[in-house]
Formats: sequence, structure tokens, C-alpha cells
Amino acid sequence: MPHQFFTMGKKIAIIGGGNLGSAIAEGLVDTGFSEAADIVITKRNVSTLGRLQQKGVRTGSDNNDAVKSADVVILAVKPFQVAEVLAGIKNELVPGKLLISVVTGVLISEMDSILQSPVACVRAMPNTAIAIGESMTCVCSRNASASELEYVNDLFGKLGKVVTIDEKLMEAATVLAACGTAYAMRFIRANIQGGIEIGFDAATASLIAAQTVKGAADLLLRKGTHPEQEIDKVTTPKGCTIAGLNEMEHQGFSSSLIRGVVTSYKKIARD
Ligand SMILES: NC(=O)c1ccc[n+]([C@@H]2O[C@H](COP(=O)([O-])OP(=O)(O)OC[C@H]3O[C@@H](n4cnc5c(N)ncnc54)[C@H](OP(=O)(O)O)[C@@H]3O)[C@@H](O)[C@H]2O)c1
Repeated sequence: MPHQFFTMGKKIAIIGGGNLGSAIAEGLVDTGFSEAADIVITKRNVSTLGRLQQKGVRTGSDNNDAVKSADVVILAVKPFQVAEVLAGIKNELVPGKLLISVVTGVLISEMDSILQSPVACVRAMPNTAIAIGESMTCVCSRNASASELEYVNDLFGKLGKVVTIDEKLMEAATVLAACGTAYAMRFIRANIQGGIEIGFDAATASLIAAQTVKGAADLLLRKGTHPEQEIDKVTTPKGCTIAGLNEMEHQGFSSSLIRGVVTSYKKIARD
């Protein structure tokens, strides 16, 4: 019978206060999901955590101490550090606590074999937009109760959007959601370069390109439409939009994006 895991007032230990761990801590405090005093964040050199200390988040270098008093442990170290860090905290990471790993590429079964106890485990793959509360986070789990999963959805829901997937899709999620940020940046940068060539200064071209992409994405997210429906609204017969779009396709635009996504996937996929 899975235990109840109520969402309010959980004590959270973030192990690995780097870019992602710090962004999560900051987001959870800024959005009011957690009281600052309910979060402890660790790394070996805590001197870089001053901003979080100022917000009232507790910091330290003792992972065991942090895990001991926590209900939820968020693991945010580099993949090669996982084995050593988990082995160091496994005696405190007892059933009843929830482990959330945001580490890329380390399977739940691999963490299980280190922990050797049936602790509930969730893997989450956010992207860098988590720093502004606009992440796309994909999560999968093993042994987590409905209320633990609800908690995880609430937590990452405060930091952007969340979707639950099978663990076998985590590598695909890394490509579409995490590498996807870089693909989108290249698309925007190319628009800026084109914008400068047709007359804008760089700053104005950057603003127009970024806000236009944001608006286009929001049209899909808020209206639930398909991209082609929105394209139809912009393409006047014999007009400039369809002429530009067709030229992009002649040059292999969609094909190059699809091949890029698949190439990234082949680079990390284990199947
Ligand atoms: N950045 C992203 O947007 C993103 C997105 C999805 C997933 N990820 C994954 O998230 C993880 C962290 O990424 P990151 O970009 O935040 O890396 P990072 O900035 O290098 O953060 C890792 C942190 O772990 C700390 N650390 C190392 N050994 C430790 C130990 N024994 N105990 C406690 N803390 C320790 C390091 O600080 P000290 O050296 O001071 O100990 C460092 O601050 C990676 O596995 C990455 O694949 C990142």
C-alpha cells in the first residue's frame, strides 16, 4: 500500500548546487512552492551559493546531513559523480523518502543497484529555461505512489510544463527538450542574421526574432492548433511568406532539422 505523500511543507535536499540545482532551488523559493528554510543545497565549494543563502536557503557540504532531514532528495550532480555521491548517501536515503534525479543518462536501475533499497525514484529531464520558470520537463518514475508523482508534477509545474513519459523515452526527451533549446537558438540566430541583411540593427533584429518565435510557440500552446494551421493564416496566395517558406524547403529546411534531431538521438541512444 503506497504511503501518502502530501505536497505541502516537504523538506527538500538538493545534492549538487551547480547551474541546474541552484536554478531549481531559486525557482522553488521564488514561486512560493517551498519556504527557503525547507530547502538545503549542497556542494563541495559553497562559496558560489551566496545568492541562495541571501534568500534564506540553507547550504552545506555534508550530503548525509542534508539527506537525513529531507523528505525529498533532488540529485543534480554530473553523471560521472552519481555513483560516488549515491554510495555516500545511501544509508540515509531510506524508503519513505523520494529521490528525484535530474542527471542525464543515468537509469533508475543503475541508481537502484547502488542504493540497494526500494526507495521511490523519479527521473526528470528539464531544460535551461528552468532558470526563468519556463522549462519543458519530462519525468518518468519507478515505485513512486500517485501522491509522490502528483508532488513531482506540482514541483516541476511551478518551473514550467511537465509531461510524464516511459523511461525508454528519456533520451528522446533529452534531444527534443534539452538539445531543442539549442536548435531553437540557432533558428532565432539565423533570423537575426537575415533581419540585419534586410535592414535592422542587431538589437532590433534580436528583439523581433525572439518575440516572434515566443508568440508563435504561444499560439500553439494556448490554442492547441497544429503549426500548419497557423502557417495557412500567414500564407497569402502568391505572397512573400509562401515564396520564402518554399525556398527554405527547397534548401532542405525541414529535412535538415529532422536529420539533426535524429543525429543527436543516435549520439546518445542506448537502444
Ligand atoms: N544544466 C541543465 O540545463 C541541465 C538540464 C538537464 C539535466 N542536467 C543534468 O543536471 C546535472 C547537473 O548539471 P549542471 O549543469 O547543474 O552541472 P554543474 O553546474 O557542474 O553542477 C554540478 C554540481 O555538483 C556539485 N558536486 C560535485 N560533487 C559533489 C558532491 N560530492 N557532493 C555535492 N555536490 C557535488 C558541484 O559543485 P562542487 O564542485 O563545488 O562540489 C557542481 O556545482 C547533470 O547531470 C546534467 O546532465 C542539466
